[in-house]
Amino acid sequence: MTEATPLIDPFKRAVTYLRVSVTDRCDFRCVYCMAENMTFLPKRELLTLEELDRVCSSFIRLGVRKLRITGGEPLVRRDIMTFFNAMGRHLETGALDELTVTSNGSQLEKFAGDLYAAGVRRVNISLDTLDAEKFARVTRWGRLDQVMRGIDAAQAAGLRVKINTVALKGFNEPELFDLVDWCRARDMDLTFIEVMPMGDLGNENRLDQYWSLTDVRTRLADRFTLLDLTERSGGPARYVRLEETGQKIGFITPMSHNFCESCNRVRLTCTGELFMCLGQEDRADLRAPLRAHPGDDAPLEAAIRAAIAGKPKGHDFDYSRQRADGQMTRHMSHTGG
Ligand code: 5AD
Ligand code: SF4
Repeated sequence: MTEATPLIDPFKRAVTYLRVSVTDRCDFRCVYCMAENMTFLPKRELLTLEELDRVCSSFIRLGVRKLRITGGEPLVRRDIMTFFNAMGRHLETGALDELTVTSNGSQLEKFAGDLYAAGVRRVNISLDTLDAEKFARVTRWGRLDQVMRGIDAAQAAGLRVKINTVALKGFNEPELFDLVDWCRARDMDLTFIEVMPMGDLGNENRLDQYWSLTDVRTRLADRFTLLDLTERSGGPARYVRLEETGQKIGFITPMSHNFCESCNRVRLTCTGELFMCLGQEDRADLRAPLRAHPGDDAPLEAAIRAAIAGKPKGHDFDYSRQRADGQMTRHMSHTGG
């Protein structure tokens, strides 16, 4: 095969990071993410595991070096380890630097060892509270002890764990230092995420409350010395190191536009739509070329290149190209967070 020219967008950003949602389903119903009664997609709409392999392998051929597997909850997809094992071959050849997962932790007790064997070394686990009753309230269907066993299993398997915590005013505010101390004790990085106005949640939900990460930072600075780290993941995260403990703490402020100029990523939904920017509606259908040409990835690659050629400059949560109320109409479980 001839060497493919890498994916470079019109703003000279190389696309080297692909986030892939493998299912819209989840065994939790977090209040800021899903409605309690969700209608999930019929199976025929989803990319098959083989189609996921083709599209990911095409991106890797075109220069993607990092894959993150998301959902919904990726580990509830049937036979998903087949896909992880298939992606593991790209780690072995050196074509891929990293294969990672974002999970709610519920299935990690079962899958942590298999993920490690497939080549996964890091997992992000979403956890907003250390209180079992509050955990049940925010996830609706989740059980904290099950997630804790998942985290234990992940660490026992040798996976590096990062905790992602959605900052929710009046909810996990009182737990700020408990979360920090707990992550420190278990040697896990911690990242706070600002709640985004995704989906169509009613405002009556008291948990759906914005807690500014500027305030989280200020409160942390009451107790710790915060050293700004210059490192970036190419995404909207900033990091600090707590001088007293050496811990790394991240802040993801998706509402700010600050880092679009270094954006290196695109997102694939479980139905094969490629979103060029989390904050824009621009998308490309990759399922059509996949299904129209089962034995030939050239049309798929052409569709990927055409899509990247239209990657928007940045996102824009409060201006044009969206609903008048300023909300994106799709859920995080659709674009994979
Ligand atoms: N705002 C911020 N983060 C969200 N997530 C899901 N929905 C939202 C939202 N509306 C997060 C989860 C998890 C990741 C997959 O996306 O908490 O950390
Ligand atoms: Fe599931 Fe994650 Fe959404 Fe919660 S935030 S419902 S765990 S996909």
